[in-house]
Amino acid sequence: MASGIKELILRRRTSKPANFSDRIPDPALIRDLIETARHAPNHHRTEPARFYLLDQERIKEVGRLFGEVVAVDESDPALVERGKKKAREWGASPGLLVVTCHTDLDSELARNKPTVIEENYATCSCICQNLLLLLENEGISAKWGTGPVFDHPEFTETIGMQAPECESVVALLFYGYSETELSERTYAPLETHLRDFTV
Ligand SMILES: Cc1cc2nc3c(=O)[nH]c(=O)nc-3n(C[C@H](O)[C@H](O)[C@H](O)COP(=O)(O)O)c2cc1C
Repeated sequence: MASGIKELILRRRTSKPANFSDRIPDPALIRDLIETARHAPNHHRTEPARFYLLDQERIKEVGRLFGEVVAVDESDPALVERGKKKAREWGASPGLLVVTCHTDLDSELARNKPTVIEENYATCSCICQNLLLLLENEGISAKWGTGPVFDHPEFTETIGMQAPECESVVALLFYGYSETELSERTYAPLETHLRDFTV
């Protein structure tokens, strides 16, 4: 299954949890991928990423919380229906890894060098892309999700967040096996985004 890095980057696509089969990827494999993914550039070597590898019970709970957030206006039947759908889709995902970014704003480093906040987020983003590529390499599809579920008052407790006052959620990485073929994405021509002084 191992591929070259270029092929992996080109092949990876976001895949919806609704497309995942029931088969649960081996948590030992996911832990191994997390260990590898941590090897990313990191200014000041702060190691800001925190990982929460959820079991089925917690995944279902996160789905329920998201459903509640979506259906916040209970008088709107469309929102209530959408909330139920989201709760079902998210709650049934065979895998969910939450990645947060830990920065202590009261630390000497953050007070002296406030750019560490963005730098820590950048490191966490590198780690998330590492994870997506490593998952792809194992034939596991994934989706990087963000969303208002973070604001649900029960979210931090549900995932057992260690230091909620210092952590912000970077990604909900839903993952699972999928047979769904996804077409290639199209991009703007590189010339429109690249100024190349070498030619
Ligand atoms: C920071 C970040 C947040 C994202 N949040 C969501 C999300 O909440 N819901 C969603 O469907 N996709 C989300 N995505 C996935 C993007 O929608 C997806 O990467 C984009 O459509 C391009 O498709 P591709 O990943 O297949 O190339 C997110 C991606 C990133 C990097």
